[in-house]
Amino acid sequence: MSERKTPGKKTPAKKPSPYLLLTNIGQLLTMRGGPLPRRGSALQEIGLVEDAAVLCSGGKIVDAGPQGHVLRDPWLQKHRGKVREYDCRRKVVVPGLIDSHTHPVFALPRLLDFEKRTAGASYQEIAESGGGIRSSVAAVRAATREHLSRLVLKAFDAMLRQGTTTIEAKSGYGLTFHDEFKSLEAIHDAAGHWPGTVVPTLLAAHVVPVEYAGKSDDYIKLVCNRIIPGAARRKLAVFVDVFCEHGIFTVEQSERVFAAARRHRLGTRAHVCQFTPSRLEALLQHQPASFDHMDCAAPADITLMARSDTVATLLPGANYFLGHTEFPNARRLIDAGVPVALASDFNPGTSPSPSMPFAISLACTHMKMTPAEAIAAATVNAACALNLQDSKGSLEPGKDADFAVFDFDDYREMGYWFAWNRCTEVFVAGNAVLGSE
Ligand code: NIG
Ligand code: FE
Repeated sequence: MSERKTPGKKTPAKKPSPYLLLTNIGQLLTMRGGPLPRRGSALQEIGLVEDAAVLCSGGKIVDAGPQGHVLRDPWLQKHRGKVREYDCRRKVVVPGLIDSHTHPVFALPRLLDFEKRTAGASYQEIAESGGGIRSSVAAVRAATREHLSRLVLKAFDAMLRQGTTTIEAKSGYGLTFHDEFKSLEAIHDAAGHWPGTVVPTLLAAHVVPVEYAGKSDDYIKLVCNRIIPGAARRKLAVFVDVFCEHGIFTVEQSERVFAAARRHRLGTRAHVCQFTPSRLEALLQHQPASFDHMDCAAPADITLMARSDTVATLLPGANYFLGHTEFPNARRLIDAGVPVALASDFNPGTSPSPSMPFAISLACTHMKMTPAEAIAAATVNAACALNLQDSKGSLEPGKDADFAVFDFDDYREMGYWFAWNRCTEVFVAGNAVLGSE
């Protein structure tokens, strides 16, 4: 994972708890084992420990494993009185889920588009007739930073209640110098009031705004020459994203966006092959952290990706909400050796769901991923997709003490129940942030 930007804004909302001991865990998914990112059969590795405990200090994990072993820790035996103990009552504990693709900065749901789709119109038809991404822009431009940040925080809180502790959050409905920064500032403000970790992404190249209709190259110049440098200077973004799609931005324009991002030492990621195929080889040269959607990626590009560290982030919530019968071909990608992650794609047009467990369920039911693969894709590989693998995504000594507790007897229930939130407790940096007080 060389030459990638080190990201990650750790929100300082709460001080790390000095000492925390989680006991009586029915099943602990440590996600330990094997190289990162996980590929092929290694995606099944979940490091399952039954009858487990986890000891944390200063917001980091000290030990995670069989309870008998953790309780024999000599320091713990001497200082148990100082340690906050939490009885997990035989439930399932997983690393805090990592939602590595969200668009939370919008002001209104897109109900007109939604209703048109119920009458049979497709996403592309609606976009071509003036709906789609562009129809979310006016309300974002009219909204204040404060209003947007309240909405972003509301979405972050909904995500946390379903076990998410790390979120990648994109701008992309402002599409001017001022409104893209306002969107990133709203993310920054919300992150300051949220206990988890937020990774901000500039998605000014989401669509050509109406005032640039027919002049997409001029808009790309604005993005590359002013918006990307400004976001880098103000440290408002860790990554730059682009929607590379027929009728939106070409591969060549997307390359210019990637080149500008790299000149300004920002990481890169892209929406690719969502509705129509594009060749990815040229973009892959820029070593993006992730290619997202990947519904119609070409076999030759899948082979190339298997040799790179670029993660394929699959977003089945969008296929579900658009009523598609086809889903990304996860089996083909995994079997070819491409590292696969899962995310919610929370946004007003294609996936208005904040739920990672729902994305996991869709991956099992519509993409034939096993529950173990889907959970690994939503934790360890999602951490890789954000270059956070050194601190997030697995429960091992030295990593962040971020956990989600689910009211399950068996981890496979994560892909089984749907539209039923079974997350009961969440801990971030060793602090209880949901459910355990
Ligand atoms: O990931 N494809 C581009 N962006 C979003 C859709 C955004 C919207 O429709 O508002 C996606 O599906
Ligand atoms: Fe998206």
